[in-house]
Amino acid sequence: MITIIGAGKVGGDAALFSALRKLDDEILLVDIAKGLPQGEAMDINHVLAELGVDVDVRGTNDYADMAGSDIVVIVAGAGRKPGMTRMDLLKINAGIMAGIAGEIKKHTPDAILMPVTNPLDPIVHIVHKETGFERSRIAGMGGMLDLSRFREFIHRAVGHSRDSIRGLVIGEHGVNMLPLVRYSSVSGIPLTSLLDGPKLDEIIESTKKVAAKVIELKGATVHAPGNAISSLVESVVRDKKQLVPVSTPLDGEYGYSGIALGVPAVIGRRGVEKIIELDLNDAERTAMDTAAKNVQDAISTI
Ligand code: 2OP
Repeated sequence: MITIIGAGKVGGDAALFSALRKLDDEILLVDIAKGLPQGEAMDINHVLAELGVDVDVRGTNDYADMAGSDIVVIVAGAGRKPGMTRMDLLKINAGIMAGIAGEIKKHTPDAILMPVTNPLDPIVHIVHKETGFERSRIAGMGGMLDLSRFREFIHRAVGHSRDSIRGLVIGEHGVNMLPLVRYSSVSGIPLTSLLDGPKLDEIIESTKKVAAKVIELKGATVHAPGNAISSLVESVVRDKKQLVPVSTPLDGEYGYSGIALGVPAVIGRRGVEKIIELDLNDAERTAMDTAAKNVQDAISTI
């Protein structure tokens, strides 16, 4: 069973995308808001009925129902409003996580955890500390989402199929994210040989800022995070060993410990199976250090 804690718009979309991908027979939406997860589940099941997809989505207000889950996605908490940064959510969402971590320890002690709540990297750290789970079972979803936006901007710049575009976005899921143009390509052709410096800089800046733009225009980001969650869940469920960015607690990788940060990792049935350490140039290393410091500063306030 896949459990999604938080049945708001992103949680609902994550359940829908996961059901459409048939990632499990059973998907559970948990939320403390009475009626919300039940209503969301009904609405999704009506989609599945029309399409003839035999995945059962259920909604509950009782955490005990998640017992036996293989994967627990954590989307609960306050979302960003126009003008807010992800870090503005730290205080309120850190408190919510402590309670959720307790429920997870009690009901799903063997699950792989996928935090999504913002500010993502400090939240991954909190979930790690509060649950005491080994870090390989904690894969925060943020980089996959940043990568989807990065790929879209590359697609628009080069004009080739979205399918041919590969890339990486590491660092903070926030203002200090690091879209790695040196590790991006179009069907293997290095991006740096296809676009000039100013265009690459423009793509980097747009990738960093576009979530805030979507929030300004429609109030929230919904489909892109919902889909990116199901994509990361798929990598675990199908043991795909995808090499993708995730936020995970670090223990010396990239020179950092005691924080969680977005890094490239191999994701399979056992969760974060291997962290890949890339060779960073001076500019990338400086950006990564800034991201690490920002996350460290945030963690030390809680
Ligand atoms: C996003 O990037 C708000 O973190 C959320 O869509």
